[in-house]
Amino acid sequence: MKTLKKVMIGLLVIFIATQFYRPEKNISKENHTAAFMEETNPPNEVKAILKNACFDCHSNNTVYPWYNNIAPVSFWLADHVEEGKSELNFSEWSSYSDKKKDHKLEELYEETEKRAMPLKEYTWTHHEARLTQDQIDAVVKWAKDTRSLYQLGNQPK
Ligand code: HEC
Repeated sequence: MKTLKKVMIGLLVIFIATQFYRPEKNISKENHTAAFMEETNPPNEVKAILKNACFDCHSNNTVYPWYNNIAPVSFWLADHVEEGKSELNFSEWSSYSDKKKDHKLEELYEETEKRAMPLKEYTWTHHEARLTQDQIDAVVKWAKDTRSLYQLGNQPK
């Protein structure tokens, strides 16, 4: 019993101590995705879906939930954002080559279609990111159509 109490106190001390460490936040100014939106011109419905379900992990701006103030959650979220951005960052769209844009749009609709994105854990707390089949269809259609923007140099159909 005595040992258990010591262990519990030890864990509590460690938990409190880790609260002083905060990963750097992913915060950017307004309109960080303007270039992407302008170029790929999604219909309003798709715009809203990308904003509500994807941008938190795939852009330079994350809208953080209150529990991001608690370690180790803050580190777990920071990790997702960093990994998500390294795969696809809508705020850096202009820096991608046409070939890369085409490929990213292909991945985008594949991941959405098979419900691999947004990550399941994200939808636990972000209900607006639970996509209906109609929403998925809209994203897939837009992404498929938009790929043609970047395939002009390729062989004629
Ligand atoms: C909670 C964070 C989070 C959200 C929200 C999220 N993603 Fe991701 N995404 C990730 C992470 C982490 C990876 C890299 C690891 C992986 O592929 O699972 C990733 C990878 C990807 C990839 C690359 C997959 C590949 O083939 O490697 C695409 C495309 C993608 N996401 C699209 C989306 C789209 C579209 C949405 C919105 C409908 C979305 N993501 C929402 C975190 C997220």
